[in-house]
Amino acid sequence: MQATVRVAHEPVDLDGIALPDGARVALMLGAAHRDPTAYPDADRFDITRDRTGPDHLAFSSGIHYCLGAPFARLEDEIALRALATCLTRPVPPHRRRDGGATPCPASRRSR
Ligand code: HEM
Repeated sequence: MQATVRVAHEPVDLDGIALPDGARVALMLGAAHRDPTAYPDADRFDITRDRTGPDHLAFSSGIHYCLGAPFARLEDEIALRALATCLTRPVPPHRRRDGGATPCPASRRSR
């Protein structure tokens, strides 16, 4: 999700900007993740990244934080484990349950 919207329910000062009651604010989550002062070298995939900085906003923040976040994290963990396993420990053809027809579970097509 690249962006979301919030509506001010009362006048509020947002970092020096006065928002009146009812103001709509577009929050550019994708752009925030490219803020180099908060997330250095954001385009580099690095699972060993130092996690002492601010938390990411992929699941948003606050009262509308993604309800499916634990489920999505579980799905990601399963998918990344399967990918890492087949990339680092390819199963020899004679030990595959399908007799070697598919090189990796991740590449299996639905039948
Ligand atoms: C990688 C996968 C996912 C991402 C990146 C994601 C991201 C988000 C984000 C950014 C929001 C907040 C929207 C906002 O603040 O306006 C959100 C809300 C929500 N997400 Fe997800 N989501 C993911 C997967 C899921 C899944 C798998 C489910 C359900 C099984 C789910 C259910 C919801 C629900 C119900 C909300 C609304 C929460 C609320 O408004 O209180 N999401 N999600």
